[in-house]
Amino acid sequence: MDRISLCQPDDWHLHLRDGATLRAVLPYTTARFARAIVMPNLVPPVTTVEAAGAYRQRILAARPAGSRFEPLMTLYLTDNTSPGTIRAAAASGFIHGVKLYPAGATTHSDSGVTDLHRCEAALAAMEAVDLPLLVHGEVTHAGVDIFDREACFIDEVLGPLLDRHPRLRVVFEHITTGRAARFVAAGPSRLAATITPQHLLFNRNRLLVGGLRPHDYCLPVLKRERDRQALLEAATSGNPSFFLGTDSAPHARSSKESACGCAGCFSSASAIELYARIFADAGRLDRLEGFASHHGPDFYRLPRNTSRITLVRQAQRIPDAFALDAGDTLVPLLAGELLDWSLESP
Ligand code: DOR
Ligand code: ZN
Repeated sequence: MDRISLCQPDDWHLHLRDGATLRAVLPYTTARFARAIVMPNLVPPVTTVEAAGAYRQRILAARPAGSRFEPLMTLYLTDNTSPGTIRAAAASGFIHGVKLYPAGATTHSDSGVTDLHRCEAALAAMEAVDLPLLVHGEVTHAGVDIFDREACFIDEVLGPLLDRHPRLRVVFEHITTGRAARFVAAGPSRLAATITPQHLLFNRNRLLVGGLRPHDYCLPVLKRERDRQALLEAATSGNPSFFLGTDSAPHARSSKESACGCAGCFSSASAIELYARIFADAGRLDRLEGFASHHGPDFYRLPRNTSRITLVRQAQRIPDAFALDAGDTLVPLLAGELLDWSLESP
């Protein structure tokens, strides 16, 4: 198959930032995706319906002319999020999930949740109004090895949470291990997971062997080859519990190439093409549409898109970098490398 037409995909996990960075990165997403779940980890975080509404307006204003891209907003859960805020979020019509960042787990998570038991009232409200919880699934205790933090989160937090709230819908974001893939596959249909291109393409050797590659550093960090294989199997299995979420997370080159580099891979400028390559290489291109375009809206109870895109097997070189504000640049995932799939212009 050298050409494939898909129901237009959506990105179910995306960081757009704000201001000049938002304006720089948004057109790459709108060229490919009809909608995206927009992460709320701005500084300060998006913790209120008003802030989410204002952020949504800034995203709408930054769309290229003629774009009908729809940002699906999220709220940032804190120890103090009230049930009233949850009910107002559900009633807003534009907020589609609430994001749990365990405090200290990742970029801009300092205002995150210190102990999920403090959020019981908010979680009960989410269950009652059927607003999904989106989780960054890592524990943060200093004593837990960074490669074990996702597995530990399943045992200590996610499993008990699903038991305590039997109707809560949960998206286990950017899963990185075979353990997580098996947990989701064996779980109820109210539990789903997103999978990023970097976790399908690479194992931790890519990050650490032959030199440290800061542009491949994200959180949760890349894991073992057997984990990558399990994620690939899950993504291409046709199981509706797995869907596309790039976790594209722009950071300026200067903050990535640093003594203490930021976590995040920028992939939105070639995201659907990367997934096409992954599915084609696995011999499962026929399953790309389900993963990229059907499973996400079905889980979020939104209509599938009626627009379509076409991908062709035609080489493109991923740019070395993209321009950002103030002379800084943004280095994408697989910078400078050849990619054998391209998006056909509409
Ligand atoms: O690598 C990551 N970058 N993981 C996250 O969870 C956050 C994200 C960011 O916002 O940069
Ligand atoms: Zn993210």
